Amino acid sequence: MAQTSTRSYASPSPLPEEARQRVAAALNERLADGLDLWTQVKVAHWNIKGPHFAGLHPLFETFAVDLANRNDEIAERAVTLGALAYGTARHVAGRSRIAEYPQETTRDLEHVKLLADRFETYLEGVRDSRRVAEEAKDIDTVDLLTETISTFEKHTWFLRASLER
Ligand SMILES: [Fe+2]
Repeated sequence: MAQTSTRSYASPSPLPEEARQRVAAALNERLADGLDLWTQVKVAHWNIKGPHFAGLHPLFETFAVDLANRNDEIAERAVTLGALAYGTARHVAGRSRIAEYPQETTRDLEHVKLLADRFETYLEGVRDSRRVAEEAKDIDTVDLLTETISTFEKHTWFLRASLER
């Protein structure tokens, strides 16, 4: 008589469990950074004042929307790999590597500088995680993170270009 497996469904990924766990842990680090950064971008979107308001207020919203989408993709990839996604505000506060945002900031170009610096920190983390995925031969996570990198490198260029004289 055939035995019925009681083992719960782990993942559709053919990668070994150890590799899946390693990649999912890296994805959860990026999720913590990304959720923290999303709140910071919204704070900048809300509080910005100055002559560049009209251009920057909606630009910051596009950053927030892109980040929310990337966070969702990253979280769902971790769960697809058989792990859980950790993303409450209290969890994220203890793990994000993004520096806290000075919430008293109002001047338009100060927000641009603060966000550019933070996007660069975020990107360093995503590149680190892509390296973990490369080593684990998880090309699908590599693709997902490459898309995240190209999107946020472009956004960082918008910010740095705004600071040029
Ligand atoms: Fe808004």
